[in-house]
Amino acid sequence: MNTFSADRLNFLKKSVIREIFDNAPEEAINLGLGEIQFSTPSNIVEYAKQVLQDRKIHYTPNAGLKELREKVSAYYLNKVPYENICITVGAEEAIFATILAYVNPGDEVLLANPCYLAYETIIKIAGGKPVYFNLDPCDDFSLDKISFMKKISSKTKLLILNNPSNPLGICFYTEEINYLIKTCKQNDILIIVDEIYRELYLEKRPDSFVEMEENALIISGLSKSHCMTGWRLGWVVSRNRELIDPIISLHQYICTCAPYISQKVAVYALSHEGMNSQDKIRLILKDNCDYLKKEIIKHSHFIKFLENSSSPYLFVQYDMDDAKLTRILSENGVLVIPGSAFGSKGKKWIRINYGLDKEILKEGIKRISEALRK
Ligand SMILES: Cc1ncc(COP(=O)(O)O)c(C=O)c1O
Repeated sequence: MNTFSADRLNFLKKSVIREIFDNAPEEAINLGLGEIQFSTPSNIVEYAKQVLQDRKIHYTPNAGLKELREKVSAYYLNKVPYENICITVGAEEAIFATILAYVNPGDEVLLANPCYLAYETIIKIAGGKPVYFNLDPCDDFSLDKISFMKKISSKTKLLILNNPSNPLGICFYTEEINYLIKTCKQNDILIIVDEIYRELYLEKRPDSFVEMEENALIISGLSKSHCMTGWRLGWVVSRNRELIDPIISLHQYICTCAPYISQKVAVYALSHEGMNSQDKIRLILKDNCDYLKKEIIKHSHFIKFLENSSSPYLFVQYDMDDAKLTRILSENGVLVIPGSAFGSKGKKWIRINYGLDKEILKEGIKRISEALRK
């Protein structure tokens, strides 16, 4: 920060993840990224070329092209009318706009420990207070209901969930979801669910919260499902129109609209052909996941991995301080993320991203074994 920067940014510091990448040896294999390292499917790129031929690259309505919002509505089996959808610049802008639209200074927002890092930072930018409830590492990171109840106060405004979870790769059980929905209703807490990893399931596609709760805001997008991080295309939806309107108003002043080209391409990505390509990505990730798990089991050094239900992350336990382990692995040319970067409950775990070329993954695992053998 500099002498002119706004006070609301004073708390910002370099994230642990950035620190790891900045200090990594040049030839390191990166199993730490929050991105799947495959290219966007070629049919989607070919479609984009056709769109560009038109040269009519203009603003769209603030909430997004009607044809795209209709496609997103169809994605949710028409349970959300197109008017209840705001197309955003990636899921990240959806998170930013939603938090800014709902958090007043002093409001408390419930977050899982561990969880995706950006929520905390954005809540603080809005002047809110992140309040963490525990997931239990001794019970496969299930919801600690006592901890959850204890963290609710008269200032609690929102609960933000990530389902499936980054960094855990797991979903909440139906019983946990019913409990959370019921408790939030009783305490007048608005639920926001980030479902960006929903399409990368291993066996069973998770239900969307859209189907479970009318008064929730659901965030998703194409970055992970379609390997389209660089296209910056996300959305936020709700079955309750009133909940979406403030987000659309704010989004207008953040960016006017998501990029036209990405919106047009998203219409194709959500079509039958686009979803077929998406499914191929899912299956490649599943194959990588099976491979990684077999390798981890072979290595007696690890205590266990958390049985994930979606890609691309495997959370692995090791009997050593996770920051120290991460440093040792980095010195041996392979990057992972220490679990404690996502919250204290991630201590002694590391997050491995297996969303990359299998040969590179193999080399990464080889380097991990060599480092641990030493
Ligand atoms: C849980 C979660 N939500 C949102 C995002 C951001 O997604 P996008 O690239 O669509 O902004 C990420 C990216 O890593 C993520 O892990």
